[in-house]
Amino acid sequence: MTEIERVFDLSGRSAVVTGAASGIGRAAAEVLAAAGARVGLGDIDGEGAEAVACGIREAGGEAFARAADIQVRSEVDALVAQAAEEWNGLDVMCNVAGVASDGPLAELEEAEVDRVIAINLKGTLFGCQAAVKAMRASGGGSIINVASGAIDLPTPNYGLYALTKAAVTQLSQTLAVEVGGDGIRVNVLAPGVTLTRFTERHMLAEDGSVDRARYDAFVSGMEGRSPIGRVGEAIDQAWLILYLASEASRFCTGQVWRANGGTTMPR
Ligand SMILES: NC(=O)c1ccc[n+]([C@@H]2O[C@H](COP(=O)([O-])OP(=O)(O)OC[C@H]3O[C@@H](n4cnc5c(N)ncnc54)[C@H](O)[C@@H]3O)[C@@H](O)[C@H]2O)c1
Repeated sequence: MTEIERVFDLSGRSAVVTGAASGIGRAAAEVLAAAGARVGLGDIDGEGAEAVACGIREAGGEAFARAADIQVRSEVDALVAQAAEEWNGLDVMCNVAGVASDGPLAELEEAEVDRVIAINLKGTLFGCQAAVKAMRASGGGSIINVASGAIDLPTPNYGLYALTKAAVTQLSQTLAVEVGGDGIRVNVLAPGVTLTRFTERHMLAEDGSVDRARYDAFVSGMEGRSPIGRVGEAIDQAWLILYLASEASRFCTGQVWRANGGTTMPR
């Protein structure tokens, strides 16, 4: 094995990924498993997560899936505990699950505010808390929380979503300071537009019907904001997650990482 292969090799490591039934979480679970990690996949869509885990096992990897709603602390705890018990500790936690919310701040309903904060913020916090407990017991690890490029650029109609993702960033950086001494690194991924089920809502016309032309216009508009003329694929985020999970990033904690085609460039 070369030094490069060794640094990115996750053989013998255990990982948990939330939101693993689809999109970025799915790609992350598959890439971590391909790098040798044993992966616990959690998602509110338990069947979808099981289908992904099945694919990983068929490819020779080790994985289990579990239905877990990240808003429910006991379900997140059970997901992480299963991985830590089966595989003698936890090395990598990817808090990927999240939801979109569209609409102007001035008109948001309280129920929508509660829903999005409960999933995007509380759910990520619960994932971090469960991971810290397990990682402290097994001597350290890497936590990767998914925020969004929306934290960089105030955008009409994305206010609630962006504020939950900004809070995820703050949570991650404070946690990085609190748990660094335990050998736990905490980093944030802030994806730019990445074509998944998450972006497919831009395919719907106002009456709910599928409008392919609307989607194509959305995609080409987003490509136009990138200096390299691209939008992302889930695998583009998964490669960065692999880096943050691996020893290659051992000196990196408390940072925001942007796979976004250069659409935002904060210093
Ligand atoms: N796709 C993008 O352009 C983009 C950009 C920036 C950030 N993000 C973030 O990336 C993350 C993943 O999004 P994606 O693009 O892969 O979307 P996706 O819709 O393809 O996948 C999200 C997954 O999360 C799961 N999920 C939703 N609510 C859950 C809950 N309460 N408990 C457990 N699982 C739940 C869904 O079932 C789904 O499998 C999200 O946090 C999203 O905010 C996405």
